[in-house]
Amino acid sequence: MGCAISSLAAKAEFGERNTEDSATTRLSDDQIQMIKESWKVIREDIAKVGIIIFIGLFQTHPECKDVFFLFRDVEDLERLRTSRELRAHGLRVMSFIEKSVARLDQLERLETLAVELGKSHYHYNAPPKYYSYVGAEFICAVQPILKEKWTAELEEAWKAMFQYVAGLMMQGYQEESTRQRHLALSPKDRPEKRNTAL
Ligand code: HEM
Repeated sequence: MGCAISSLAAKAEFGERNTEDSATTRLSDDQIQMIKESWKVIREDIAKVGIIIFIGLFQTHPECKDVFFLFRDVEDLERLRTSRELRAHGLRVMSFIEKSVARLDQLERLETLAVELGKSHYHYNAPPKYYSYVGAEFICAVQPILKEKWTAELEEAWKAMFQYVAGLMMQGYQEESTRQRHLALSPKDRPEKRNTAL
């Protein structure tokens, strides 16, 4: 199930990258322009795309469904096509993509947003290895909407954007994971809190 890119590209091209890779993933001005233009078309089907992304994600990586309290027990994924909850969730994710597109000219603002999102995903128990799959599913979902406007260059541009965002989310996840580990240490184990007074 899903389109070719969701099973192949997820690993090979969106792959599990570290944050150094993402820091070097810079989009060219042409790529930013292409993304913005295509977004105007995609946003007309924003709710539909959000649903298709997550149904695709659950088909190709069923373990992702377990992270969602509301969907983990749903066996028949077709039922989710009309689920109000999945529609609402998909819209939250698509609004984030919309904000990201709007901030492509102000990368420091996009970075803050995506790193914070990664921190919240630590608390949702959504591990970084799956973030890049969302980009692959997004591409599968929007190709049929853009029809002949979809080109290899546009695909590269969207891949670069998702790599960038997923890398920042991973950074946020790791920062939050380190912070939580630190908080979990008992006071006597925290080096900076050690009381050396007699
Ligand atoms: C590029 C990748 C992703 C993006 C942009 C993204 C975006 C979002 C956004 C915007 C929210 C709304 C809440 C918030 O702002 O904190 C959210 C919630 C959530 N995400 Fe993600 N997400 C991504 C990947 C994933 C993956 C792969 C999983 C599961 C394995 C996941 C699981 C969740 C869960 C459990 C919630 C909370 C439930 C909810 O809000 O309905 N996310 N995500």
